[in-house]
Amino acid sequence: MRDYLMYINGEWVGKDLEKLEVKNPANGKVVGSVPIGGEIETNQAIDSAHEAFQTWSQTTAYERAKYLKKLNDLILENQEELAQIMTIEMGKPIKESRGEASSAATYIEWYAEEGKRIYGETVPSHLANKRMQVWKKPVGVVAAITPWNFPVAMLTRKMGPALAAGCTIVIKPSGESPLTAVKLVELCEKAGFPKGVVNLVTGSSSKIGTAMMEHDNVRKVTFTGSTEVGKLLIKQSADQVKRLSMELGGHAPIIILDDANIDTAIKGVIASKFRNAGQTCVCGNRIYVQSGIHDTFLEKFTEAVTKLTIGDGINEETDIGPLINQSSVDKVTRQVADALSKGASLLTGGEALTNQGGTFYSPTVLSGVDTSMVIMEEETFGPVAPVQKFETVDEAIRLANDTKYGLAAYVFTESVVKGTLLIEQLNFGIVGWNDGTPSAAQVPFGGMKESGIGREGGHEGLEAFLETQYVSIGMD
Ligand code: SIN
Repeated sequence: MRDYLMYINGEWVGKDLEKLEVKNPANGKVVGSVPIGGEIETNQAIDSAHEAFQTWSQTTAYERAKYLKKLNDLILENQEELAQIMTIEMGKPIKESRGEASSAATYIEWYAEEGKRIYGETVPSHLANKRMQVWKKPVGVVAAITPWNFPVAMLTRKMGPALAAGCTIVIKPSGESPLTAVKLVELCEKAGFPKGVVNLVTGSSSKIGTAMMEHDNVRKVTFTGSTEVGKLLIKQSADQVKRLSMELGGHAPIIILDDANIDTAIKGVIASKFRNAGQTCVCGNRIYVQSGIHDTFLEKFTEAVTKLTIGDGINEETDIGPLINQSSVDKVTRQVADALSKGASLLTGGEALTNQGGTFYSPTVLSGVDTSMVIMEEETFGPVAPVQKFETVDEAIRLANDTKYGLAAYVFTESVVKGTLLIEQLNFGIVGWNDGTPSAAQVPFGGMKESGIGREGGHEGLEAFLETQYVSIGMD
């Protein structure tokens, strides 16, 4: 148990503030605390980021890359410590936490390089006495609000491109998993970023969020979290027309065609559905299986799910850790009860295991589900796999697209023609084709419809932190 602090203008602060305790969801024990900052601390952090922006934005991309590369090395050197903190504060199985820490480093490394490729344009003029150019400039101070389910990778996915573009940043991590963020910022300090370039505030989400939205000098807000909170931030941003990137909720369909390779499909569905105990925005939540393969898939899939080991994430053998809190367990319990009451069958799981202070839910497979059930409409965020049979590809497309979300979808088929035609009809920002884990630093991540605005990752993730400035040069 350690009392962690906030980082503002190159100083660790907040020792005298009230503390927010962070509890391990595997056993309810307090594992650390952070200060409860509010408006005052947020404004201080923004002011310091604004001051630092004046010089950081004038550095070259090559200089900024040196800091980022140092940070990448430090993340990799501290991978195990980051993973341990992550697991004890939010429950993720330790092997996944190690994977997240190393994937977090890739966002820093990739953007260190990509920052060197921020090109403008020279546009042919229609007049002999004019030259026309398009310049790119960092947008300014960035407010980054990050979620508990990926405590370090969601942060570096924002921080990497923001810092590479020449922006400075104020980070507000989730109150449920702020300790990993503090550790990451300690590594930023070691990497030697000038004071004020990276700032971290912890505490009251509403007070910090409101201060960020009301401060004139925050020019960009990048948020990962629920669609509900995203909508609120979009409304609040209107007064100052702040730039926004919103990575919001999802309710991903998985479509498995008759000709799928069944082992590939099972591996992909397990990875997509059960990673992080089903608590990712890109989790496959609605599994549609074509009638010819349905029964065989269900039998083999259920057998694979029963082999998953549930337990404290700190144990090496754990595949499914706890859910983040009791209300998550309650939500999953409600969705499963609703499905069973409307005629679904329980093939395995279906149990809340909340003894000894932990908030676990057993990996669950439901068959015979249909669109009348809440689980096929509302984002799940838990280890429950509902399977629905379909006959034709058109039916699968209709079912898959019948949602307000548009983040990720998954397709399993061995046919290039069928896969291509099917994916062309899907309204989702990310599609995994015979692949349950499509995310990577160099490709765009984000959703259509109510799943968000903009993209993180890839060159689009860097554009999100840049302004375009058109310069017309008179030559008379
Ligand atoms: C998320 O669920 O927000 C991130 C998952 C990923 O990057 O794969």
